[in-house]
Amino acid sequence: MSKIVILTGAGISAESGVATFRDPDGVWAKFNLEDVATPQGFARDPAKVQDFYNMRRRQMGAVEPNAAHAALAVLEQALPGKVLVVTQNIDDLHERAGSRSLIHMHGELGRALCLGCGESSAWVDDITVQSQCPACGAGGRLRPDVVWFGEMPYRMEEIGDALTGCDLFAAIGTSGNVYPAAGFVEEARAAGALTVELNLKCAGWASRFDEQIEGPATEVVPAFVERILSGKG
Ligand code: APR
Repeated sequence: MSKIVILTGAGISAESGVATFRDPDGVWAKFNLEDVATPQGFARDPAKVQDFYNMRRRQMGAVEPNAAHAALAVLEQALPGKVLVVTQNIDDLHERAGSRSLIHMHGELGRALCLGCGESSAWVDDITVQSQCPACGAGGRLRPDVVWFGEMPYRMEEIGDALTGCDLFAAIGTSGNVYPAAGFVEEARAAGALTVELNLKCAGWASRFDEQIEGPATEVVPAFVERILSGKG
């Protein structure tokens, strides 16, 4: 196995206690996506949006990486330079598990973006209208450094290069509802990669994969990593 790209979604963090988005008790069942995850919603009511992400940022202190996050870090350490994790998640559980070859295509809860100078800075506390940009000092110009609907995800060129150069593409705990991430399977397949979906319930886009592995991430991901490392690919 030469190059591996792994796409992760909210399902990989579900067993750590981080809610997914589209499951019955998910985030979008409780919050209006238009209000809290669009630039228009932020323009309409910035305090509502800040409250939403401040709540989720605070939650990060109460959750831990799980066996699925840990297994991906082990895979990366066992195959240095051959594994890239592309996550749609804005939590920091992959890093805390030890992943380093990692792209947050939808941004990070732990960063703030200044609308004044454009700088992205590490940020741990609540963002308020008083908050000052660590780079330029401007007050009241910070937003969560999260990619909202209608905005371009980060590092798409790097991701595209990795997809066309991989021979194994796996999607873990994502429903495949949101593009461009939902189109990665076709890019990898077109490059001749084996494509595998790992999900609690393989549905919707599952048929677009060569293989489906069903079960909770904390069970199926460590087994999948073991399979790769044992050379059974
Ligand atoms: N183990 C494995 N998979 C799971 C688990 C689990 N324990 N629990 C849930 N899942 C699966 C669900 O079956 C579902 O397919 O995780 C998936 C979660 O899907 P979504 O809630 O749609 O989350 P995701 O695919 O990451 O959303 C993509 O949409 O809302 C935006 O920007 C947000 O990054 C997010 C993007």
